[in-house]
Amino acid sequence: MGRDVIIACDFSSAEKTFEFLDLFTDKKPFVKIGMELFYAEGPSIVRKLKERGHKIFLDLKLHDIPNTVKKAMSVLRDLDIDICNLHAGGTKKMMEAALEGLTRPDGTRPLLIAVTQLTSTDREAMENDLLIHEPIDKVVMHYAKCAKEAGLDGVVCSPLEAQKVHAICGDGFLTVTPGVRFEDSDKGDQKRVMTPAEAKKIGSDYIVVGRPITASDDPVGAYYRCIKEFVD
Ligand code: C5P
Repeated sequence: MGRDVIIACDFSSAEKTFEFLDLFTDKKPFVKIGMELFYAEGPSIVRKLKERGHKIFLDLKLHDIPNTVKKAMSVLRDLDIDICNLHAGGTKKMMEAALEGLTRPDGTRPLLIAVTQLTSTDREAMENDLLIHEPIDKVVMHYAKCAKEAGLDGVVCSPLEAQKVHAICGDGFLTVTPGVRFEDSDKGDQKRVMTPAEAKKIGSDYIVVGRPITASDDPVGAYYRCIKEFVD
């Protein structure tokens, strides 16, 4: 799979999701399904979106003991998703177990990427709540390296970290980056942002774009603006 724009479908129901995706008549965008929609609708939302021809990033961020994650991944592998994820903080053992569970009997599997440190976790929370005293940047790169060593395909990271992740883990190691905003649009609650054009320049493999598309007056136009800046 090459560089692409993934729309974060942060909707509360299948109905709202389909209403939104029905706007796209020429192309079936790559979509991200998160916890809210998955917990509301269950696996059927994945099957329905697949039937409609969408590629799917299932963003459930698994984190549990290795055996439990392995078994959960073996359920997800049968959903025919394209990308799924977990927390690198679950350790290399957990990531290796996840890969085992995700691999189908014929050897194929969806791509598996890791969340390093959530962008909502700041230095203060790392120091006080997690007792991690290293700089965030060092922790993120270390987790990325662990994910690579465990055999994963890439990480979710801030666009500002993508270049460094590639330098450390190689260009083939995928960087999937949320926190994308147009030059002239509202940042909302995202703090460290990049435009799609900048994300392309620094080598992101996929950008995850939510509100700049879903909350736009012209979602289809906003999507194609992302494609034009990031892919073409
Ligand atoms: O609307 P917006 O473009 O901010 O949406 C970004 C999407 O990426 C949301 O679904 C959000 O949960 C997700 N995400 C993020 N930052 C991370 C990990 C995931 O914004 N570090």
